[in-house]
Formats: sequence, C-alpha cells, structure tokens
Amino acid sequence: MTPELMEAGSLARERMAEREARGEGRIARRARLLRELEPDFGQGVALYLDDITVSFDGFKALNALTLQILVGELRCIIGPNGAGKTTMMDFITGKTRPDAGRCFFGSTIDLLRLSETQIAQAGIGRKFQKPTVYEQLSVFENLELACKGDRRVRASLLSRLSGEQLDRIGEVLALIHLKTEAQRAAGRLSHGQKQWLEIGMLLMQDPKLLLLDEPVAGMTDEETERTAELFLSLEGKHSLVVVEHDMKFVEQLTEGRKKVTVLHEGSVLAEGLLADVQGNDKVVEVYLGR
Ligand SMILES: Nc1ncnc2c1ncn2[C@@H]1O[C@H](COP(=O)(O)OP(=O)(O)OP(=O)(O)O)[C@@H](O)[C@H]1O
Ligand SMILES: [Mg+2]
Repeated sequence: MTPELMEAGSLARERMAEREARGEGRIARRARLLRELEPDFGQGVALYLDDITVSFDGFKALNALTLQILVGELRCIIGPNGAGKTTMMDFITGKTRPDAGRCFFGSTIDLLRLSETQIAQAGIGRKFQKPTVYEQLSVFENLELACKGDRRVRASLLSRLSGEQLDRIGEVLALIHLKTEAQRAAGRLSHGQKQWLEIGMLLMQDPKLLLLDEPVAGMTDEETERTAELFLSLEGKHSLVVVEHDMKFVEQLTEGRKKVTVLHEGSVLAEGLLADVQGNDKVVEVYLGR
C-alpha cells in the first residue's frame, strides 16, 4: 500500500464524517465516532509507519522509521538495547507523539489523530513487559473485568455476564492454559502464568493488532515454549508485533519462513528471514555478535 492511497482513504472518510456531522443527534454522533474507529483492512495492511521520528531533547529514539505489518502477520522485532523498540510501541499506542512521519492503522485510520483511548478502541492492544493483573481477584474475575471494560471493579463484578461473554472467557482460559486455575487468585500464579493472564485480558477485547514487548522475559523454558505456541495460534486471527531478545523464542515464532525486523538507532537496519539477518554483517556487529 502506498502512503498516497492511505492519505486518500483517510481524506474520503473525513469528508464523509463532516457531511454526517451536520444535523445529527448525540446517539448518531456516538455511532459515527465508533464507526470511524473501525479499521479497513481491505488493502491487506494492518499497520503502516512512514518516516516516523520521535525525539527526546534532540536525541532521536526513532529516526525516520518506516515499517509495514500485514493483516494476520506475526512479526518479530529484534535489536540491541536502546534501539527504539519500546518507543515504537509507545508511539503506536499514542503514549508518545512523533515529531514527524505518518502512521496508519488499516488503510483509513490515521493514528496520529487519535487519543490513547481511541487507539485502544480501534483495536490495538498492548502488553507491557511487567504483568499487571488484579492480584486479589481470581483468574476468572480478571478476565471478566477485561471483557466488560468497566474500570469500576465492584460495579463490573456485580453486573451479569452474557452467555456470549461466558463462552469467550472459556475460550480464552483454554488458549492461555489457565482453565484449571480459573478460581485461583491471580497473585498466586507463577510469573509466566500472570503474563498469560494479561495476554488473555487483552484477548477479551478482541484486538486486531497486538503489541507484545518482551513477553517471555523471566519465563521458564517450558513457559516460553508454550507462549510461542499461543502466539502461533493467534497468528492469522490477529496481527502481532513481538519484541524479544530471546533468539530461541524468535526462532520458534518465525518457523524458518517469517520475516523479522532488526531495529538499530531508531531505524530498520535489516529485514528478512531470521537466518539471513543472523548472517548479516551489520546485524552481527551491532547486536548478535556481542
Ligand atoms: N521518555 C524518554 N525520555 C528520554 N529518553 C528516552 C525516553 N524513552 C526512551 N528514551 C531513550 O530512547 C532510546 C530508545 O529506548 P527504547 O526504550 O525504545 O529502547 P529499546 O529498543 O526498547 O531497548 P531495550 O531492548 O533495552 O528495551 C534509549 O536511548 C532511551 O534512553
Ligand atoms: Mg524496550
């Protein structure tokens, strides 16, 4: 997809929104806003970053970064400490604003015009490195809260779940290997299980794009392997961007056929099959050789 095509899609949508905005009521307005957050994946592109620069006091954490993630793709991003991997996730989710560049979700949503909340509503879910679950609540209750999306814990736990929501919780519990732990307090889970629970909470919102920052850091080998299986089972249904230093994990995810991206000093240093980038002299010099 070209930037021009995306720009055209975005402009057409804006004009339509302006027409609709004239003479509409509050409910219609809300419905329109929600519709505007519905991404269009018709072009096959989930995320498009074009020439993005993010700087902190003049230091460019991202430097003219250009990247494209396809719908349903599982893309691993590797690179040395300080390469800009986390900053990239910060700006995709609206936490940090770039100085320059463009960023589209699907072919019509210009992410730079949306707030953090709207970006999440549009279907971008993010997993931070440290698990953040409600320790006192059970695994089930954590998932329950995530699917209701109501931040008031008590109100949310008192309201009833629909049959559909219950089914979804059951599905997610199976996916994250926590079916037998459903009634256990989240605080009593292992580090790896907490990470899965948090991923499960993200999945309750049915995100179209999942951003996962060092998801297996601190996990045992067995947990790491299971996490790779989980991500592979999500591929296709969701687009996934996985940042990791654990090369064995990356190898398992790429299955010898998927593209990986190497970031260095805020830009793409190399992109291609893992075996090819591992043999790339520049990559060995800045990252893998050390
Ligand atoms: N809020 C901030 N203020 C100033 N500098 C920042 C800020 N956030 C990140 N940086 C700097 O930007 C650079 C990129 O950091 P970032 O955290 O994105 O790297 P990373 O690729 O995620 O590294 P790691 O593999 O260690 O997690 C680093 O030099 C970091 O110090
Ligand atoms: Mg980081």
